[in-house]
Amino acid sequence: MPCSGRRSPLLGLLPLVLLPIVAFADVKPYITTSAEFNTECKTCPHSLCTNTAVYETNDSFNATCWARGTKIVDGNIWLKSVAGCYVTQYDVLEYSGDYTTDLEYCGKASEVENLTELDATLAYKTECNICPTIDCDNAAYLPEDTDLTLTCWTDQGSPILNNPYWYKTANNCYVAETGFHSSPERISLDNCGPIPYLELEKHFNENGTSDIDRRAPLPQPIEDGVKYLINVTVGEDHAYCRKCAEESCRIQEAYPFNSWVVLQCLVETNGTWWSESTDFCYVKNSDFWESPEGDNYKMPLCDDFPDPDGNKARR
Ligand SMILES: *[C@@H]1O[C@H](CO)[C@@H](O)[C@H](O)[C@H]1NC(C)=O
Ligand SMILES: *[C@@H]1O[C@H](CO)[C@@H](O)[C@H](O)[C@H]1NC(C)=O
Ligand SMILES: *[C@@H]1O[C@H](CO)[C@@H](O)[C@H](O)[C@H]1NC(C)=O
Ligand SMILES: *[C@@H]1O[C@H](CO)[C@@H](O)[C@H](O)[C@H]1NC(C)=O
Ligand SMILES: *[C@@H]1O[C@H](CO)[C@@H](O)[C@H](O)[C@H]1NC(C)=O
Ligand SMILES: *[C@@H]1O[C@H](CO)[C@@H](O)[C@H](O)[C@H]1NC(C)=O
Repeated sequence: MPCSGRRSPLLGLLPLVLLPIVAFADVKPYITTSAEFNTECKTCPHSLCTNTAVYETNDSFNATCWARGTKIVDGNIWLKSVAGCYVTQYDVLEYSGDYTTDLEYCGKASEVENLTELDATLAYKTECNICPTIDCDNAAYLPEDTDLTLTCWTDQGSPILNNPYWYKTANNCYVAETGFHSSPERISLDNCGPIPYLELEKHFNENGTSDIDRRAPLPQPIEDGVKYLINVTVGEDHAYCRKCAEESCRIQEAYPFNSWVVLQCLVETNGTWWSESTDFCYVKNSDFWESPEGDNYKMPLCDDFPDPDGNKARR
């Protein structure tokens, strides 16, 4: 071949010359991926950042760069969608390559966690759910007087006593506004943005750095959602509200016939159902027109909540 004499020195040089170019050419302008299950696309790559968009199972999007953020289960890499928000790599389909070499780095500034925060104290026993509806999984049972840090609000939650406002806590779960004596100062907080239906099974950050709620170990999961803070009506002459859930306990309040009472949770004493009211005393359920323990309500047990100061419904 006429050219062979000139080729071999060139071939020897090729790897040296081309390597940096090849590595550079491997950085793709975008990688198309899709959500493995419902996930949130966030303003910054951290669990507590507010949401910009929701990707439901199998929704696809183009990722343009990567950033480091909250460690989710086994990795802290988040992908920036063309929508301008961040999704944890854990929630998208497995990728055989390495995002950190195949995509650009989004830059240090993209990793800043910018949150609004507000301290607030619960008035009543309240569940903290991983999304703001009553059918979402329970992440923690928070007793009355629990101090919380709120990070954002939504008006898209399940209405409790007709109030649809819920707040996301710094422990990454949502509480209903009805758990507080008065509305927290919403104005000082960001809106949480759109929130998908999430499940503990897929979003329990077992080995990550933002456990959902670190206060207490998770109790047994409850079937179905629970409704709590229900508004019932007295069906007896007087419904006595007692210091504990037994006939022999001291009377704290007497609710008149046909007045309404708001209930927090259930206690069963020797086969009789009682409820704790928002006055923190216990009424026999048979004193109400409604059956708080019945199928129309899914009330939590008072025993599910850790006791804030050692008082017990049962002695
Ligand atoms: C997602 O896509 C997979 C594979 O095509 C399919 O089996 C599954 O049913 C889809 N899931 C949903 C929720 O659409
Ligand atoms: C990703 O970007 C390409 C090129 O712009 C486009 O054709 C494709 O529809 C995008 N995919 C998604 C899921 O947005
Ligand atoms: C944080 O967000 C607020 C408003 O959302 C903005 O005014 C502020 O500049 C942001 N701070 C940083 C460090 O990004
Ligand atoms: C978390 O860590 C434990 C112990 O190393 C391991 O057995 C478990 O599989 C891990 N969980 C996940 C979801 O990776
Ligand atoms: C409970 O219901 C009664 C009658 O329906 C209503 O007047 C009262 O405002 C309700 N209480 C709360 C706290 O929602
Ligand atoms: C429950 O019932 C048993 C048997 O009737 C009785 O001995 C016991 O004192 C009751 N306990 C309470 C808390 O009422």
